[in-house]
Amino acid sequence: GKGNYPFYMEKEIMEQPEAIKATLAPRYVDGRISLEADGVPDDVLKNCERVCVVACGTAMHAGLVAQSLIRSILRMHMDVEYASEFMYMDPVIDDKTLVLAISQSGETIDTLEALKYARSQGAKSIAVINVKGSSIARESDYVMYTYAGPEIAVASTKAYTTQMAALFALIGRMAVVRGAFNEEQEKAFVDALMQAPDAIQQVLDRKEEMHHIARGLLEAKDAFMLGRGLDYAILLEGALKLKEVSYIHTEAYASGELKHGTIALITEKTPVVALVTQERVRDKELSNIREVQSRGASVVVLVKDGIDLADADYTHVFTLPAMDDVAMAFPASAALQLLAYYVSMDRGLDVDKPRNLAKVVTVE
Ligand code: M6R
Repeated sequence: GKGNYPFYMEKEIMEQPEAIKATLAPRYVDGRISLEADGVPDDVLKNCERVCVVACGTAMHAGLVAQSLIRSILRMHMDVEYASEFMYMDPVIDDKTLVLAISQSGETIDTLEALKYARSQGAKSIAVINVKGSSIARESDYVMYTYAGPEIAVASTKAYTTQMAALFALIGRMAVVRGAFNEEQEKAFVDALMQAPDAIQQVLDRKEEMHHIARGLLEAKDAFMLGRGLDYAILLEGALKLKEVSYIHTEAYASGELKHGTIALITEKTPVVALVTQERVRDKELSNIREVQSRGASVVVLVKDGIDLADADYTHVFTLPAMDDVAMAFPASAALQLLAYYVSMDRGLDVDKPRNLAKVVTVE
């Protein structure tokens, strides 16, 4: 049941610290990352030359966060494809490709078909799956389960953050076996990852602060979410959440792209959510925020604690607990989920069952 919560979505948002702990626990052995319990052999991680994610919706967005890490940590080529587009994009797949099929349900037909195709081209595969024994789990060479428990709300929350946790463990192990991490770097990565549940908890403890911020979006028809690099990847999921449960048309936009066209859409009627968790993008991001403010937009800034926002006048600032840059996706995502949740609830919508959407999509 929903326990004391009015909606499953809130319950599932609140369950994330435990769900992430459960997902990390079997992969954390004697202070090191291990995929032994998953049965994923090191040579599969070592011998591949590129990685390709096939997934849909939220699961695909988890893949985008992983892509950012794989590029920066492993310096490896990685594609992230919509499973539904995969076959029509002439994907470059061979026996040196490691395919990651990410799916909460394990039954999404697009993802299943993409996985089958990739395997027919000789790729090895690891599926990141929440539902035990599901079709995609059965079709894949290896499976890494997420231990999110049942996710009932149509809008995915704990499945997403546990997918990230499993993918981080995978990437950490890859970095070790491929020589990208020495012991010290592995330790720093593990430490950051193990702080994810607590960082999320700190955000959840301040849910009423986000509820207050959400009230500023209730009348909006359109909204923008702006960020760069990893922040942009995180916002793609944040925007999907807001769209699907609140029906506000929301675009996640790479901040620098705004003035290549869509800045014309920014008015005092389009609230902007800006995410600033990566120190290296701070200066440019702040100047992009000024650009939208000067068009009259109200701006909510979600910022990593310690990043100096200068003394500009923002509509709201929500401070995210500081952790290593790579792990900021965890607290940032929780904050964005709460935002979507409260807008939907305060608009009086059926949060758990948005119109026209199904939890599991079994048609192509
Ligand atoms: O079960 P799956 O993870 O394969 O589902 C993929 C998408 O349909 C799913 O992530 C969808 O985008 C979410 N329900 C959105 O919140």
